[in-house]
Amino acid sequence: MRHLMSPLDFTVEELDKLFNLANDIETNPKKYAHSCDGKKLATCFYEPSTRTRLSFEAAMINLGGHVIGFSDASCSSASKGESVSDTIRMISCYADICAMRHPKEGAPMVAASKSRIPVVNAGDGGHQHPTQTLTDLLTIRSLKGRLNNFTIGLCGDLKFGRTVHSLIHALERYDNISFVFISPEELKIPDYIIEMLKEKNIPYKEVIRLEEVMPELDILYMTRVQRERFFNEEDYVRLKDFYILNKEKMALGKEDMLVLHPLPRVNEISVEVDDDPRAAYFRQVQYGVYARMALILTLLEIDIDSL
Ligand code: NCD
Repeated sequence: MRHLMSPLDFTVEELDKLFNLANDIETNPKKYAHSCDGKKLATCFYEPSTRTRLSFEAAMINLGGHVIGFSDASCSSASKGESVSDTIRMISCYADICAMRHPKEGAPMVAASKSRIPVVNAGDGGHQHPTQTLTDLLTIRSLKGRLNNFTIGLCGDLKFGRTVHSLIHALERYDNISFVFISPEELKIPDYIIEMLKEKNIPYKEVIRLEEVMPELDILYMTRVQRERFFNEEDYVRLKDFYILNKEKMALGKEDMLVLHPLPRVNEISVEVDDDPRAAYFRQVQYGVYARMALILTLLEIDIDSL
C-alpha cells in the first residue's frame, strides 16, 4: 500500500505515467466514470480549504465513487481531544482512501503510519502540498509540452508557502531548470532549500523586484502572503500588497510565459490579468481535478487496462 506525503514519493517515471493517465482522463472522461464504483474517499480537513477539498471530492465523484469527511476540526472529534492516529484507525474502517489536511507539519505522516488505507497529504502546515505540485506539474507539462529547460520565477511568500516548497523539490529532478526567487527580505525561501539547490548545483537567484526579472521568466508562479502563519497582524498588513501583478508588469514578460497561482488569490494578481492568454491559474484548477483522479486510481491500484 502506498501513501503520498511528498512529491518525491513518486519517481520521475512514475510521475510521467500518472500525468499520461491524467491527460487520458481529460480526453476520455467517460471511460473512467465508473472506475471507482463502490469506493469511498474520506476528506479529513483540520484546516480551511475550498479548492483542494472540493477538487478531491469532484475527482472521486467523477470516478463513480463516494465521499465522506469533515471540513473543519471543530466539527470533528479532534475538538474532543481525539488524536490523528485514532481518527485514521477509525476512518480506515469506513473508507478506501483518505485525503488529510492539517495545520501541524507531519500530521499526515503520523496518520499514514497507523493507517490501513492510502493517505494523501493534502497540505501540512508550511511544509508540503504534494497534490498541488502534481497539479502544477501537470499544468506545465500539458501547456508547455515539457518539464525541463525553463526558468521559473516563484514570487510572494516563499517562507511559509508550502506549495512553493513542494514544487521546488519536484522540479529539481528535471534537467536545466533555473529558479528565480522573488520575495521581500522577510519572506525569503528557507535556508534548507537554498542549501539543497547549492548541493545539487541547480542555478538560482534571489531578488526583491519582480519587474527586474520578468523578461527572463518562462513561468511565473505567484503566491499569496500566508496570513494564518504570521505571528503578528502588523507584519502581514505591511507585506500583503508587496507584489501586485498587473497589465504593466505583464507587458515586460515573454509572449509565451505562463502565470500560475495555487489560489486563493488575494491582491497579488490584479483581475485585469485574468483575460491575458498567459494567465493559466484557472486552467490549473481544472488540471488539479485530473491530477487527483489519476492519483486516486493509482493509489487504489485500479486496473485501468480493463476499463
Ligand atoms: C494553497 C495551500 O493551501 O497551501 N492553496 C491550495 O491548496 N490551492 C495555497 C494557499 O493557501 O495560499
